[in-house]
Amino acid sequence: MKSTIIQPVVAVKGEISVPGDKSISHRSIMLGAIANGITVVHGFLRGEDNFSTMNAFRAMGVTIDDDGSTLQIHGRGLHGLQEASDVLDCGNSGTTIRLITGLLSGQSFFSVVTGDQYLRKRPMKRVVEPLTRMGARIMGRKGGTLAPLAINGGNLNAIGYDSPVSSAQIKSSIMLAGLYADGETSVREPSPSRDHSERMFHLFGASLKRFNNGITVRGGYELTAQEVIIPGDISSAAFFMVAALITPGSELLIRSVGVNQTRSGVIDILKAMGGDIRLLEERELSGEPVADILVRSSRLKGIAISGDVVPRAIDEFPAICVAAASAEGVTTIRDARELRVKEADRITAMATNLRILGVTVTETEDGMDITGVERFSGGTVDSHGDHRIAMSLSVAALVASGAVTIYDTNCIATSFPTFFPLLEKVSQN
Ligand code: S3P
Repeated sequence: MKSTIIQPVVAVKGEISVPGDKSISHRSIMLGAIANGITVVHGFLRGEDNFSTMNAFRAMGVTIDDDGSTLQIHGRGLHGLQEASDVLDCGNSGTTIRLITGLLSGQSFFSVVTGDQYLRKRPMKRVVEPLTRMGARIMGRKGGTLAPLAINGGNLNAIGYDSPVSSAQIKSSIMLAGLYADGETSVREPSPSRDHSERMFHLFGASLKRFNNGITVRGGYELTAQEVIIPGDISSAAFFMVAALITPGSELLIRSVGVNQTRSGVIDILKAMGGDIRLLEERELSGEPVADILVRSSRLKGIAISGDVVPRAIDEFPAICVAAASAEGVTTIRDARELRVKEADRITAMATNLRILGVTVTETEDGMDITGVERFSGGTVDSHGDHRIAMSLSVAALVASGAVTIYDTNCIATSFPTFFPLLEKVSQN
């Protein structure tokens, strides 16, 4: 397992672009594969998670040309996918396995999906249960709650589903199955999760209606190939935003970042903590809002975080924890139980690691209380195999009093293979 040692820096300065949005990259392959015509994708994220999605669709007979910068996906139409001759390996990617399980529920062939040691521990009942109600026959370990999952799809009926959790993966899985169902499938969630599927369904010409906290998809409508330009991933930008905020004397411009309202909770939270963050050149690309983000180092203060902002910032909590740990006073995080079922249990993982760096953290069942410190201490911390934990701790290390060794940083390649070179580029020593 690779470890990385990070030394403190003097400041974080310059201009960067972060790689393409992971969620939008997954969806571009999935919808491109079942649309009619050739979908051209610019800015696709070349991370392991997205390659898992790409490989799965290639295994189902989809030709995807990749010249190193642009993808051309030769869509096979709604009913053109072929049965794969082997198990579809989703690696570490929760989005791949949950969304693909929805899509495969609509196919009249047999599929098996699985993933790595971490993915095989993550809850699948949340999609298996509604998809089974639609008529899919899905078997899996522990009564169909854990991968590998075996799926016999086809002949779906539409359902109305009230999701107990706000989750774009659940919503999108059912929406993809809904494309194949007889009638109108609707999904309602407690508060809005990211809406990239809704935006891309609309772009590809699906029959989709939105209502308060929900959507309805009508089955049986063919999709049309599109040109998709993917913005920079706000989840990747978040690490650099926090790095610039907590390192005195910093100023960083992050170009062309997706700032969709359902994803931009991290900006609202960091601004509420006193962060100097400005959105410049706001524009739209392929139906998604985009901006350049200018960040200057700031004296942060602790705040209370709970409610509707939580799903809008769900992937950014590891980075937010680092901001909180260097803020003045106490930050409380609540309503964030979902963090326990991400790539790692991110509540326990961040609490344990921040304590090693000298921070006082109290865990609750659905969040934590973090008391900020003047300066982190050096030490050895552990990513628990979770890319976002590894990157957050790398950011904390920039302002520690000594070197920080991060154990298991290979996982960063799942979402942000160029993270360390970019961090080095903006670090002033
Ligand atoms: C994602 C949705 C989120 C997020 C994940 C990507 C997506 O999961 O944590 O990294 O692309 O739909 P949930 O929807 O389960 O919260």
